[in-house]
Amino acid sequence: MVASGLGTAPVYPIAKALKEKGNHVISIQGAKNKDLLFWTERLGAVSDEHIITTDDGSAFRKGLVTQPLKELLENDAAEKKIGCIYAIGPAIMMKFCAETTRPFGIRTVASLNSVMIDGTGMCGGCRVKVGNVTKFTCVDGPEFDALAVDWDLVLARHKTYHEEEKCSLNRYQQSTEPEA
Ligand code: FES
Repeated sequence: MVASGLGTAPVYPIAKALKEKGNHVISIQGAKNKDLLFWTERLGAVSDEHIITTDDGSAFRKGLVTQPLKELLENDAAEKKIGCIYAIGPAIMMKFCAETTRPFGIRTVASLNSVMIDGTGMCGGCRVKVGNVTKFTCVDGPEFDALAVDWDLVLARHKTYHEEEKCSLNRYQQSTEPEA
């Protein structure tokens, strides 16, 4: 299980279910800094091994989640006991998890839930390409084979409403500013 940022929330129930089914669960959990880490105890409780990273080194191991992921896969290369990787978090993190697991030929699943808008199959905002086939994340996913996802398209789609999101954030910040 590789969880970064808010990805910890959707990773947790999957890790819990896998653990309850008797799997050996290894979790790698990362955040930009210690203040953005959450549910460490909760995820740790359903993991046989739990590695925590922060980008800035303000808590636990300094670095990105892909570093311990690569080490685990290298250490497992002879025995091949690791059967599947779930990676959930920012699109860029999932892309690099896929690039990390690709040389090992290991099944890797990513969740593209963050590109969804209405979640009904109507707006078309969640279109992605998986294995060169167009899929709707809300109808066909949100979990897909991370090794087949066109990550550059996912990253571009995340920027579609960048200006509107900035504008919306500015308005929100102005509305919450205390009056002079
Ligand atoms: S989120 Fe609108 S079609 Fe999928």
